[in-house]
Amino acid sequence: MALSPDSPDKRDAPRRNIPKDSEKRQADEIRDTLGNETLSFSAEEIVNAERFLTYLQIASEIPFVQESQQRSREAMCIQFDDVVLDVGSGYCPDLTEFNSCLGREGTLICLDPHSALLQNLKERYRDSPLLFQLSCRQGTGEAISLQDGGVESCRVMRVLQHVENPAKVLSEMRRVTRVGGKVVAFEPDWTSLKVDSSELREKDKELFSSILVDAQNDTRNPSIGRILSRYFKGAGLLNVEDDVLQFNIEDYTMANFLIGISRRLNMRVSANTLSVDRASDLIDRVRSAFVNQRASGTMNFHFVTGSCPRTMD
Ligand SMILES: C[S@@+](CC[C@H](N)C(=O)[O-])C[C@H]1O[C@@H](n2cnc3c(N)ncnc32)[C@H](O)[C@@H]1O
Repeated sequence: MALSPDSPDKRDAPRRNIPKDSEKRQADEIRDTLGNETLSFSAEEIVNAERFLTYLQIASEIPFVQESQQRSREAMCIQFDDVVLDVGSGYCPDLTEFNSCLGREGTLICLDPHSALLQNLKERYRDSPLLFQLSCRQGTGEAISLQDGGVESCRVMRVLQHVENPAKVLSEMRRVTRVGGKVVAFEPDWTSLKVDSSELREKDKELFSSILVDAQNDTRNPSIGRILSRYFKGAGLLNVEDDVLQFNIEDYTMANFLIGISRRLNMRVSANTLSVDRASDLIDRVRSAFVNQRASGTMNFHFVTGSCPRTMD
């Protein structure tokens, strides 16, 4: 029997993390569309493209994510005739924003292992032409099929957390970027995820903590944000700057989306390791703690930039 714990609840307000036009995406809808299984973004797994897209679309509406995208475009120091690369672009939510920096002469290369995401990207913009050239390429960041110094700058956003070999991706990004070009990355540190659960009963705290641990363990490289600048330096990039940005989890809907609280509890119910009543009860308690402003959470993201040195040594 499936849980229905996340029915829309107006008392969840305020939702300052989610813009108005997406408020109709209540927790129930998110739970239904994202299903009850683990969501994997790795290159190797066969994905359900629809679930994948839904997740990325919801994420792209979060102001914190939009700000990081804008910041990445600025940090790439893009000129009008540049060729730039987005590694693990997914469906590249900020594609049209590149119009103003690439103009008519520039080219954006979107690289992703999943053809369904790239297909969606092409279809979305078929009827509203972009100023610049768009080149969609299927492949992984570990083996970028571009020549040395072939792009002026590149970025990787919320991707290294999922890849098998982050060091290899960064060394490939360095290889394909011209001397002096910018390499930009934005990645979470799942090990910094904290949700204040002091309001919960002891036995609920334990269950809730185990859900947070599940969320961290489901990510291939959970601490990537924290060690990202080390990877940049290891790839030989220069002038490495690491900015830590704190994401505030202020309401239950956002906590549920980020952590997958009901999805993870549903998985346990399906595996017969948790009763429906216990799962529903925990959701009610966590939700009401957020509604009564007695719960909040934070997670750090790292925005790291570097530039390519003169030689490949
Ligand atoms: C959380 S999504 C982020 C997508 C996009 N960068 C954004 O900010 O919306 C992670 C993306 O990484 C891609 N990905 C997974 N493994 C990869 C790899 N080894 N190389 C490049 N991209 C990869 C996935 O297909 C997915 O599109």
